[in-house]
Amino acid sequence: MSPAAAPDVERLRADTPGCAERVHLNNAGAALPPAVVHATVTAHLERECRVGGYEAAAEAAERLDRFYPSIADLIGGGPDEIAYVENATRAFDMAFYAVPFREGDRILTAEAEYPSNALAYLQVARRTGAVVEVVPSDRAGGLDVAALERMIDDRVKLIALNHVPTHGGLVNPAAEIGAVARRHGILYLLDACQSVGQIPLDVEAIGCDMLAATGRKYLRGPRGTGFLWVRRARLAELEPPFVDQHAATWVTADDFALREDARRFENWEFYVAGKLGLAAAADYACAVDVAAMWPRIRDLAARLRRELTAVAGVVVRDQGPELCGIVSFTKADEDAADLSARLRTRSINTSVADGPAHFDRHRRTYGAAVRASVHAYNTEDELAQLVGAVADGR
Ligand SMILES: Cc1ncc(COP(=O)(O)O)c(C=O)c1O
Repeated sequence: MSPAAAPDVERLRADTPGCAERVHLNNAGAALPPAVVHATVTAHLERECRVGGYEAAAEAAERLDRFYPSIADLIGGGPDEIAYVENATRAFDMAFYAVPFREGDRILTAEAEYPSNALAYLQVARRTGAVVEVVPSDRAGGLDVAALERMIDDRVKLIALNHVPTHGGLVNPAAEIGAVARRHGILYLLDACQSVGQIPLDVEAIGCDMLAATGRKYLRGPRGTGFLWVRRARLAELEPPFVDQHAATWVTADDFALREDARRFENWEFYVAGKLGLAAAADYACAVDVAAMWPRIRDLAARLRRELTAVAGVVVRDQGPELCGIVSFTKADEDAADLSARLRTRSINTSVADGPAHFDRHRRTYGAAVRASVHAYNTEDELAQLVGAVADGR
């Protein structure tokens, strides 16, 4: 396959009204939406206001159906394997709590796991007697695939982890993990919350069975939107933890049948404008091409790490065999929250990562860090503004 052409940064910026307002380096918090996403959401809200919510949804029925092929175009798989869910946590939970765990089952996860995912594992372990085990990291800081392989036995029910953890630039080796899961026929749930829209994803190449994602981060969709992908061949064994009259149909007065497609994980009531906006974001990401943006995101982040490292007192905290657009750093004489707030007064948006991930606490020695997350629409000049402001001091 020939490499994708470099993205047209001028076009990306022209499509993104927020670029004119701020230096937005909080793309792992919520990226700036392209104008088409904003227009799609507001146009639908306007119709709801004028003709009524149900009536506006009926008008948009065909476009709402196109949500599923739009997401499939982005990540692979089929439209029937996709559910619209309100955020990545709930998407992840709908899949995770659908797994029929029994006492002694093993759940394998990564050290740098997202805390809400870790809470779900621990709750299920408490309820069922399943056990949660953390696969060690390799020296570079990503999940150690050889160690994962050594931990596999008949009791491993699920491998579940985040692709890109919340607090730093690490990219876990999702496809290598998928190869292990496939070889042993083990269910594999990937939290792609921070990778979707940033890193080209293909569920077949990754080899996962379930993939959860959010709309607002690198995908640039509306807040309060997300989706779940579930492999068709696995659907029958995964019973949603909640069932409503969208997920199931009545068979007799006291019996029901679950939908056969992944929409068994959806709610009857949903944020209609958000679903349209998320489909628009997926279409936009496909049009500008995630594969074209990804090398630029990586290069900008690598440059930012180099430039920040040259600032007195700054320590870049990212670890991993492969790093992405998220750059986390601390400064010796300035608290991370204060520094991020100071940057915001200069119209530079960053966020604060509240320290290490749950299972990672023994390995990471620093507390909170500033998280600057670059997207393809950011420029070298914007990075220089950030570095200059960090260096300036209070
Ligand atoms: C790795 C990871 N997983 C899941 C989530 C949760 O996503 P959401 O807020 O859409 O539920 C986040 C949010 O920051 C995250 O960083």
